[in-house]
Amino acid sequence: MRADQLRAAMVVGLVRGGRIHSPAVRRAFRVVPRHLFLPELPVGQAYQDEAVATKWVDGVAVSSASQPSMMAIMLEQLELRPGHRVLEIGAGTGYNAALMAEVVGPTGSVVAVDIDEDLVRGAEEHLMAAGSAGVRLVTGDGALGYPEGAPFDRIVLTVGSWDIQPAWWRQLAPGGRLLLPLSVRGSQLAVALDLVAGPPPGLHSVSVRSCAFVRLRGTGAGPDSSRSLGRDGLAVQTADERPVDPRAVCALLDSPGPECPSPVRLAAVDLWDGLGLWLAVRQPDICRLLVSAAASDRAPSLLPVGMDGGTVGLLGSHGLALLVPVSRDGAGFDRRFPVVVRAYGPDGAELAARLAGQLDAWAAAGQPTATDLRLHAYPAGVVPAASSGAVVRKAHSQLVLDWPRNSVPSSPILER
Ligand SMILES: C[S@@+](CC[C@H](N)C(=O)[O-])C[C@H]1O[C@@H](n2cnc3c(N)ncnc32)[C@H](O)[C@@H]1O
Repeated sequence: MRADQLRAAMVVGLVRGGRIHSPAVRRAFRVVPRHLFLPELPVGQAYQDEAVATKWVDGVAVSSASQPSMMAIMLEQLELRPGHRVLEIGAGTGYNAALMAEVVGPTGSVVAVDIDEDLVRGAEEHLMAAGSAGVRLVTGDGALGYPEGAPFDRIVLTVGSWDIQPAWWRQLAPGGRLLLPLSVRGSQLAVALDLVAGPPPGLHSVSVRSCAFVRLRGTGAGPDSSRSLGRDGLAVQTADERPVDPRAVCALLDSPGPECPSPVRLAAVDLWDGLGLWLAVRQPDICRLLVSAAASDRAPSLLPVGMDGGTVGLLGSHGLALLVPVSRDGAGFDRRFPVVVRAYGPDGAELAARLAGQLDAWAAAGQPTATDLRLHAYPAGVVPAASSGAVVRKAHSQLVLDWPRNSVPSSPILER
């Protein structure tokens, strides 16, 4: 099949899958040739709905061409209009910048920043080959934004951020929209936030989706919340900067205590979205236990996360509670498995009771996911007059999160 036929088929898939809604986004995907932004790939592969890693450092992917489905979701979240001035942080291959330039048209502008000069040079070549106009590429640290081009109607990050940097607030035009993959205690959310002048000034979500992007590097890099346990390919992930002693976690795992069956069934997807996000918002002592693909067969008591395994629970200083599947036959990311709550260590019973209570509360609230979540962000130190919801504090911002449309049973709001 020719490239334009493959591209047309990809767009049909994105429309049928409910990823593309607007004619402007559909047209952009239809006209911008993705294969010219991934010249090393066979043309057919460039039009599959998959992310493609393009640069690694120490075996970790630091740049990629994002999955077209996710790009479409985020372009719809952005609600670009002709004439908009747009800043993208994370230029990568330049493909997303080219799509956005198509939507904003000749009266608008797109500045795309990447921290790596080699990637910017590559993006320049790709844009040239594709004949894309209207994109200005800049090498720099996106945490600082691009003051020379401010104010922007839209600032979009296509890289995961732990915090909302002050420069992004400053460089957003009144009524502008910031869209970023934001880390909330280990879950990553693509949040579209509209700027409201206040007082107090705030960014209020108009759309939230779950996502998985490579992480911001440079001055805005967040804490690494994942620690290897040094055995069986296991790693433990906790909320933000909470210190973890891997040896203590191993000792807890070595002495499993009682188990309590739950009527709620869980899928691997619920570790991040769904229950995982629910716990992240409400329980600062959330933890996730993850196992690498290579070691997955040694961890049959974890849910199948793609080829890997993992689960979610609560971690205290002297105890742990985890949700573990009764069996994981017929693996699949969306498939739901019966689970038990398993306690470990002296405080395990208390943690297990709280975990079981949260699982029940999540189920009773209709198993809400990221899509239902509302998120409000304020500069650090600015306290909104009256806010209900969980508060997550970052270095430069504080987030207030809640699921307002669900009749959520009241539970204490805990702070990190
Ligand atoms: C998922 S890729 C972006 C994909 C890109 N939008 C595309 O269409 O190909 C994330 C990019 O963010 C870049 N990045 C990471 N930290 C950055 C920073 N502090 N400032 C600017 N770019 C950064 C990485 O180099 C990487 O190219």
